[in-house]
Amino acid sequence: MNKIYWKNSLHHYGWMSIVLHWFMAVVIIGMYFLGDYMVELDYYDPWYHKGPALHKSMGILLVALLIFRSIWTYSQTQPEPLGGKDGLNKFAKAAHASLYLLILLLLISGYLISTAKGQGINVFDWFELPAILPDSADRGEQSGKIHAILGTVLIFMIALHTVAALVHHFIFKDHTLKRMLWANNVTSNQQPKRN
Ligand code: HEM
Ligand code: HEM
Repeated sequence: MNKIYWKNSLHHYGWMSIVLHWFMAVVIIGMYFLGDYMVELDYYDPWYHKGPALHKSMGILLVALLIFRSIWTYSQTQPEPLGGKDGLNKFAKAAHASLYLLILLLLISGYLISTAKGQGINVFDWFELPAILPDSADRGEQSGKIHAILGTVLIFMIALHTVAALVHHFIFKDHTLKRMLWANNVTSNQQPKRN
């Protein structure tokens, strides 16, 4: 049977990083559109309550995934950039870090909106995450504004990140996108060849 490569190597992402990347990407993009959709609903729409309940539960699931992903990423070898100028590689690294930071701030502001009235967050009816701060309508409103701005910045950064991945694939014709799609067994220091 073929070996499954869970761990990263110097030039490749392993399956754990790949699965976490794509699963979280789908959930986060879904969260953006769900958030945008649900705030426009009127009271009699069946999704008026269901939308925020799903948005909040998925948000808490994302907190758990983000913690796990940060620990995993930190414990792994980070694949080296495939060529490219030093300055551009530093920019890419900063862009990845800002994606993590934006997600973290969205999760915090989301928690602050949801708990502003002193109620905890019911997560998929499994358990309730308690509200730890005293009620404050003002904090709820401010966090709502910040959350909306952060969501817009995040979706813009994701678009930029996607364009960068496609430029690597179609213009530079390197393995940047491929190595985030499929883990393989090249663990040596040999740089994968350009197409
Ligand atoms: C919510 C959406 C997304 C987020 C938050 C995100 C975040 C990240 C982060 C943080 C990394 C650095 C590696 C890591 O720490 O896991 C990364 C790598 C990567 N992402 Fe995304 N990503 C998203 C969506 C996408 C999409 C839609 C594409 C392409 C169509 C894409 C393509 C890539 C590629 C190719 C890499 C590897 C870059 C390299 O090897 O230097 N990502 N992504
Ligand atoms: C990556 C994670 C998240 C993204 C991308 C996201 C995105 C959004 C967006 C785009 C909106 C609509 C904002 C507006 O136009 O007013 C929204 C609203 C909302 N989000 Fe999130 N969100 C995330 C995480 C969370 C979490 C973790 C929670 C709570 C635990 C949360 C709670 C809320 C609530 C309560 C609203 C409604 C705010 C209002 O009524 O003004 N969100 N979210």
